[in-house]
Amino acid sequence: MPRIVDIADIGVGVADRRRFESFAEDILGFVPFRSADDVQTCFRWDDRHHRLSVTDAPANELRYVAFDVGGADDLKEWSDALAEKGIAVQPGSAKACGERRVSAFVEFDDPDGHRIVFGHGFAPAETPARFNRELSVLRTGHVLLTVADTARTCDFYTGTLGFRLSDWVYIDEPIKICFLRVNARHHAFAAAPHAPGAKPRLQHIMVEVESLDDVMRTYHHVRAKGGPIGMGPGKHANCQTVHVYVPTPGGFAVEFGYGHRRVDDQRHRPTVYDIGTPVDVWGGGVQSEEFHLG
Ligand SMILES: [Fe+2]
Repeated sequence: MPRIVDIADIGVGVADRRRFESFAEDILGFVPFRSADDVQTCFRWDDRHHRLSVTDAPANELRYVAFDVGGADDLKEWSDALAEKGIAVQPGSAKACGERRVSAFVEFDDPDGHRIVFGHGFAPAETPARFNRELSVLRTGHVLLTVADTARTCDFYTGTLGFRLSDWVYIDEPIKICFLRVNARHHAFAAAPHAPGAKPRLQHIMVEVESLDDVMRTYHHVRAKGGPIGMGPGKHANCQTVHVYVPTPGGFAVEFGYGHRRVDDQRHRPTVYDIGTPVDVWGGGVQSEEFHLG
């Protein structure tokens, strides 16, 4: 199977872009910048041109999650491999590549209709990331998507896309979450069941921060600004990430995480954290009505 290097960027549509921008500026501390045509608002927090693209939509929605597959040859291999497996793969147009600042990409839907992008040549940042508060971000860590059937999702991502299972965490019935990696980081992708009656969605994006100070500064900054805390400060059982989650008006949360576990492919065996595993080994839990796991 061809390789996947890492998660690249995420595209979302939001019902109120102005509101999302001001929330991101004031509460998250991110600096938005709009494209010349005003169609998208981008956010840069590490060494890439952007990691989040926000456009207008009738309702909050995930537009895509992009993964970097390395180079042009790798992308060609992926296109052929996916087509062979019967996946309807669409190549990205030159216009879309320009908008997304990527050399080339293909996109396809996962079993829940989440649009997945495989691309290469994601543009680096032209200027260093700046923030509206004291914060040091290392990289984009992962997304958690909600799905109809986590076992089906796990089979698709491991079997068809070559992700590697790190573990399952059974919080309770029916919240069983699978964690998948593409490199040494414990997970680049996680899938949880969506709430009854809800639709599959983007639940959170994780940004990996440099230190515990960044997590705690985030917590106190959000509280001082009167913003919502979804969960944390806490620590996850499986990936060991010390986290704080901030629900946004885009319908998804941003997790600021430190100490995310690295996995040795040779030695790791997928495990199951049995029913009753807490979301936070320190004893915290969901803290705001705006934050939902499903
Ligand atoms: Fe996470």
